[in-house]
Amino acid sequence: MARRTSSEDNGDRVREILASSHELELLQERYVGGVLRTVSKKSDRFVIKRYVHAGGARPRRCPWVAENAALKRLRGLHAPEPIGFVEQRSDSGMTATLVRRYVAGEAVAEPDDGLAREMASLMAALHGRGVTTEDAHRHNFLRSAEGGLVFLDFGKARVFRTGSPLLYAGVAFELHRFFRAALGRDAGLWQIFIDEYQRCSSFGLLGRAAVSWLLRLETWRYRVVKGG
Ligand SMILES: Nc1ncnc2c1ncn2[C@@H]1O[C@H](COP(=O)(O)OP(=O)(O)O)[C@@H](O)[C@H]1O
Ligand SMILES: [Mg+2]
Repeated sequence: MARRTSSEDNGDRVREILASSHELELLQERYVGGVLRTVSKKSDRFVIKRYVHAGGARPRRCPWVAENAALKRLRGLHAPEPIGFVEQRSDSGMTATLVRRYVAGEAVAEPDDGLAREMASLMAALHGRGVTTEDAHRHNFLRSAEGGLVFLDFGKARVFRTGSPLLYAGVAFELHRFFRAALGRDAGLWQIFIDEYQRCSSFGLLGRAAVSWLLRLETWRYRVVKGG
């Protein structure tokens, strides 16, 4: 049976932004698993991420809730400033709308040594706040107009309790996926990346050792399960 609960965060501000007269400029549109997802820009100040679900059920895992929680935990640390989200229901389905600040900048190229180091320091900072992105591929990084690197997409992110040992497992999983998806399994780049990551990590000696050990375990697990 469809669950009829709904929630919002900073809803009045979100509705005010949505009602403002500036035009929406569509940046991306995708249809995934029965959900229409659009990303639009409003007045060079806000990004509006909208999820339109046909059918009334609120999904068990709501990406807008996860993204908003991650952005709030990070509060601008290499990530867009969060504004909030609203959910609206109708007889034909539900629409969720997340608003965050627009970051002026440009896409990043294939990583070289320097970019691999920057990505390492950025990811160590996110992980240090207890957030894993679960989506760390190149297209979700942006070079901001001020010159720094920003991570944009926290729709799959997980936010861990401070000090939770589960964070280390999440981090190892994320780092191995990063090796495959963003570094194209380049062993040289990976070495540069992971050295810098460990140098920047705020986990402390035991935490860093736990990540190294879990990373070896994840490498082994991936080889056994996927054969590569
Ligand atoms: N805050 C932002 N500032 C600037 N551009 C953004 C911002 N958020 C999203 N974008 C642009 O929109 C694209 C899609 O956004 P993203 O959050 O990655 O959506 P999806 O979850 O559908 O992948 C990004 O790759 C980027 O080009
Ligand atoms: Mg994305």
